[in-house]
Amino acid sequence: MAELRRRTSAKWRAHPEDVLPLWVAEMDVPLAEPVARALTETVALGDTGYPAGTGYAEALASFAEERWDWRIGTERTALVPDVMVGIVEVLKLVTGPGDAVVVNPPVYPPFYAFVEHLGRRIVEAPLGADHRLDLRTLRGAFGSATAGGRRAAYLLCSPHNPTGTVHTRAELERVAALAGEYRIRVVSDEIHAPLVLPGAEHTPYPSVRGASDSFAVLSASKAWNLAGLKAALVVAGPGAAEDLARMPEEVWHGASHLGVIAHSAALRHGGDWLDALLAGLDGNRRLLAGLLAEHLPAVRYRPAQGTYLAWLDCRALGLGDDPAAVFLERGRVALNSGPDFGTGGAGHVRLNTATSPEVLTEAVRRMAAAL
Ligand SMILES: Cc1ncc(COP(=O)(O)O)c(C=O)c1O
Repeated sequence: MAELRRRTSAKWRAHPEDVLPLWVAEMDVPLAEPVARALTETVALGDTGYPAGTGYAEALASFAEERWDWRIGTERTALVPDVMVGIVEVLKLVTGPGDAVVVNPPVYPPFYAFVEHLGRRIVEAPLGADHRLDLRTLRGAFGSATAGGRRAAYLLCSPHNPTGTVHTRAELERVAALAGEYRIRVVSDEIHAPLVLPGAEHTPYPSVRGASDSFAVLSASKAWNLAGLKAALVVAGPGAAEDLARMPEEVWHGASHLGVIAHSAALRHGGDWLDALLAGLDGNRRLLAGLLAEHLPAVRYRPAQGTYLAWLDCRALGLGDDPAAVFLERGRVALNSGPDFGTGGAGHVRLNTATSPEVLTEAVRRMAAAL
């Protein structure tokens, strides 16, 4: 903990020292050794200029083929500064000002902020009570998004933040058929894809039947804790390659050469580290379920299939719309506020499980003590 508290990133600097931070999606892990080595060598060489070449795309292609049996043509990829900028730039390619972007709340809050800042309209299609995509709701949202013959996009979160839902191939095939019917372009945020836990399997959206004209945005930043080393990739399905080719050159200028090097090393040589991480996260989701059953039995938790996030339904505690405010104030534990995640977020909190079992145990103890 003393070492973690020396970190200067958002997780460790937003709150005073007596607060235990389990909010923003950063992990309490040491850097993967192959990534640390690549960065150290780069710095020793003074190799700190601009990025060049397709090394990141090639590293992702080899990881994707090995882990997901997905063949990515590197000629259908674009280097971007990070996942959110990649999403915004793709939305610029396939929608115009005032067009709608469909999202599935509760969902990663920046989806709202970035889409609105771009001058697009959010149309919500809430997840079902089981945290899964609801095709009837999605059909209604697609209908309203495209009313009057307007262009529209669907920003899918796959796996889903904050619920950790991993969409199945069958679900995604139904989504693709629906998107085709309404001529909606799908942008799939797959930043959490390497973090799918035992028992579930990631399906890259552009690999799904009927989804050739879609885009996926991927990065090593979540799974290897590299958010401070900016880089990400957009991958177009074959039917979206021409659109991606229209992405202007200045977009990739924002990616960091150090980011590209770190992400490539993670994807190429960080497989063992990732597997150890996944085993730990699998243990933590079980530990959390046990801790909640013991100390906070009124909180409802459906263990995540992927990601290191836990979406906790605290409505039975009677703490109002924003229980995170109470846990922070009285328990000195920082979680994410449910209402920030859109419709369905009230009365919920998001808890980051990417920490040690000791910290996780202490966090739940503090939450219980806050009641
Ligand atoms: C679903 C999702 N998309 C995007 C991001 C942010 O990615 P980036 O920092 O590459 O923009 C996050 C970060 O937690 C996320 O959970």
